[in-house]
Amino acid sequence: MKEIVVSGIRSTGNLHLGNYFGAIKNFIRMQHEYTCYFFIADYHSLTTHPTPADLHMNVKQVLVEYLACGLDPDAATLYIQSDLPEIAELYLLLNMNAYVGELERCTSFKDKIRQQPDNINGGLLTYPVLMAADILIHRAHKVPVGKDQEQHLEMARTFGNRFNRLYHTELFPEPYAFNYGTQLVKVPGLDGSGKMGKSEGEGNAIFLSDSPDVIRKKVMRAVTDSGPTSEHQAKPDVIKNIFSLMELVSSPETLAFFEEKYNTMQIRYGDMKKQLAEDMILFTAPFREKINALARDEAEIHKIASKGAEKARESASATLKEARHAIGIRRF
Ligand code: ADP
Ligand code: TRP
Repeated sequence: MKEIVVSGIRSTGNLHLGNYFGAIKNFIRMQHEYTCYFFIADYHSLTTHPTPADLHMNVKQVLVEYLACGLDPDAATLYIQSDLPEIAELYLLLNMNAYVGELERCTSFKDKIRQQPDNINGGLLTYPVLMAADILIHRAHKVPVGKDQEQHLEMARTFGNRFNRLYHTELFPEPYAFNYGTQLVKVPGLDGSGKMGKSEGEGNAIFLSDSPDVIRKKVMRAVTDSGPTSEHQAKPDVIKNIFSLMELVSSPETLAFFEEKYNTMQIRYGDMKKQLAEDMILFTAPFREKINALARDEAEIHKIASKGAEKARESASATLKEARHAIGIRRF
């Protein structure tokens, strides 16, 4: 039997090239090698109180963009978290054995308290319990997440092990973080700040849904310097960033051409950025086309979401049945 992979996708905002090269490409590979459950974590996003219209629109956008990137609903089980009431029920059961002390010590909770001091709700405190329920509901072994989620994953193991011990069962395996290779790709942003991210400054990220004009504008504004002053000079970070981006979307010949220009001090960053913008436009064109086509096809979205929910519920209801039985919740 193939190992089980579960991962949750934040339901906020549009995807950028960082998300694509960092996480989504891995999902696309995993879906053919493991039994994968990928879901849009809309329950989790309620901790920040989105408006109903924003919530609905964001979930749709994220679903459409993941599909456009190549997530295949026939290979992986792709669903929306709130379509599985089993997750909410397992969350309730796990909450009974999650202690306030350990939840308060969680780094992400402490961060959130600082970020939204006027909205320190119960959902924030029990965020790691909900995430554990997401993972344990499919009895997952592997969870493709970055370093920032390591503590949550450790808590998922704690809650699963605690359940097993308290109720004398081996229902839940221990889930571990999983990524191909040792080093995750880091895609730099355009503003010289380091990482491409949606919460960085305006113009830092190239979104898959950006129009060619927007891409040109953002790339042309990317930070550079006044150019190398000696041959084969080491590149400062802002210049390294432009080259790294080119490495992701341009041909090896194009990259070699500009490397040569840099090394011989003939580089013109304006030309390089023009080329980078055109290559980014070409690279993102198929995504953009699929995003636009799918976004208009409500029937197709409904079909995919329903099928995903149905497949995910098969696995979820089997786990929940065993969990309820173990606890002593049994039908008369
Ligand atoms: P953002 O940084 O825009 O808020 P998220 O934190 O929502 O993006 O990212 C979701 C996933 O996308 C992360 O788990 C990470 O794997 C990947 N990711 C985001 N930005 C980058 C980046 N610049 N380089 C590589 N991977 C990234
Ligand atoms: N907490 C994760 C994040 O912020 C999203 C998430 C929710 C998740 N449930 C999950 C990830 C279950 C993996 C497994 O990125």
